[in-house]
Amino acid sequence: MKNLIAALLAVSVCTTATAWAQDDPGLEAIKARQEIMSFFGSNMRTLKAIMEGRSEFDADYVQGAGREIGAKAEELELLFPEGSEEGLNTKAKPSVFENKIGFQQELDDLKNGAAAIAVAETQIEFNAAFLSFSRTCGSCHGQFRSN
Ligand code: HEC
Repeated sequence: MKNLIAALLAVSVCTTATAWAQDDPGLEAIKARQEIMSFFGSNMRTLKAIMEGRSEFDADYVQGAGREIGAKAEELELLFPEGSEEGLNTKAKPSVFENKIGFQQELDDLKNGAAAIAVAETQIEFNAAFLSFSRTCGSCHGQFRSN
């Protein structure tokens, strides 16, 4: 019986936390930016396979991916507002909110990299664009994301 009550309590705590996330713009921003980052993660795998020649190069495909990644990178700019410093196990370091100029520089690099992928006509152009794009992930994480 004790266990059942504990379980019921746990469930109600979870639902309360979710409802709260929906009303809290800071938590919504954290959730949205984590989703975009996961989206980047899955795209990177596909694009890396193309760079390494394990998947066939298709200019239309990589250009479309570049445009989509670029649009998500634009969205990211709005997803680190004040009030989103804590919650949902965020891995954003305080430096994101303290060094806004440095963080914006990384976001700009990300957008520029995506823009270069979006106009790649050949495998060689794509590979160069993809390499510089993927460097921005680690560069930003090193400064602004905790492990
Ligand atoms: C401008 C800085 C910046 C750039 C550029 C960046 N990230 Fe991130 N990334 C972050 C921060 C900050 C977090 C932590 C977000 C949070 O938990 O609130 C994060 C989190 C993540 C996560 C974990 C998501 C989760 O569900 O918790 C993945 C995966 C990820 N990034 C992949 C990438 C990939 C791949 C790239 C390059 C295409 C990239 N990121 C580029 C700053 C960046």
